[in-house]
Amino acid sequence: MKSQVLRDIATTIFAHSKGLLAMDESTPTCSKRFASLGIPQTEEARRAYRELIVTTHGLGESIGGAILFDETIRQQTIDGIPFVKVLVEAGIVPGIKVDIGAKELAGCSGEKVTEGLDGLRDRLAEYSRLGARFAKWRAVIAIGDAIPSRSCIEANAHALARYAALCQEAGLVPVVEPEVLMDGGHTLERCLEVTEEVLREVFCQLYAQRVRPEGMILKPNMVLPGTTCTKQESVEEIADATVGCLLRAVPAAVPAIAFLSGGQSAALASVRLNAMNVRFKSRLPWALAFSFARAIQQPALELWKGQEANVLIAQQALYHRARCNQAARRGEYTSEMEN
Ligand code: 13P
Repeated sequence: MKSQVLRDIATTIFAHSKGLLAMDESTPTCSKRFASLGIPQTEEARRAYRELIVTTHGLGESIGGAILFDETIRQQTIDGIPFVKVLVEAGIVPGIKVDIGAKELAGCSGEKVTEGLDGLRDRLAEYSRLGARFAKWRAVIAIGDAIPSRSCIEANAHALARYAALCQEAGLVPVVEPEVLMDGGHTLERCLEVTEEVLREVFCQLYAQRVRPEGMILKPNMVLPGTTCTKQESVEEIADATVGCLLRAVPAAVPAIAFLSGGQSAALASVRLNAMNVRFKSRLPWALAFSFARAIQQPALELWKGQEANVLIAQQALYHRARCNQAARRGEYTSEMEN
């Protein structure tokens, strides 16, 4: 019974080529983004910005689910309407980030493990009462000279699996996010090798913790060369490496794979997702979708700048990026859409 409920939530989110909008930046991350644009780093500025997002007219045409932060799921519009209600009325399923961040992993210099399992069962019950229907947990894996270590990969995969099992018990769909970072001079081949090893370990731990693949969403990185690598492969080569890796490592029972953007430009994230769907869509067992934060929000945030007068133009930019990514899911995105 419960499996069917979980499957239905995932199906609803990704119907009509929709995707996820990650708007779950923690307060420190949100403050960093605001500071770089001279926006005050206050609770009211965060509330106003999130109101801008959730009240964007027509957003539910291309966004099926929105990931919220603990502060945001409790907030309301200036007129006193809870954000959760605004989202549901727009046809957008509310979700919640439940990890409490990546902390230094003892004994493993330069590596992190994501925390947040203590008390998670009770927190999930509360989020469910607040209206969340899915959750997110992000693990970060850095690539460097002697990293990632097996210790880091196993610790993070185990935590992801414990989190996912608790979510399914609570009737929430877990978004399982093992992010292999783009930072560094590593090659695409190295990212491919690490991403495949990480995904294999994640699904091994998910199986060990009895997580049903039918009732989860995978949120991986695309397989990319490091940002400072001298060789930057073509869109087609990246599409082939990414989808090849996923086909080898992700069970066909998983309903959807929704990429993070990881610091790629908004347009590049759309181009790359589009290429994957153009080249592979008819052969994929899962929906190949998006769960972007920066690649959907950044242009809108830069236009808003914290000014009430810029709300409409920022909302138009947000709507536009969401539509571009919906088109990319269909393999129908073109550069003309950017004009
Ligand atoms: P980006 O798309 O900005 O990488 O963020 C996705 C996300 O939700 C990170 O947890």
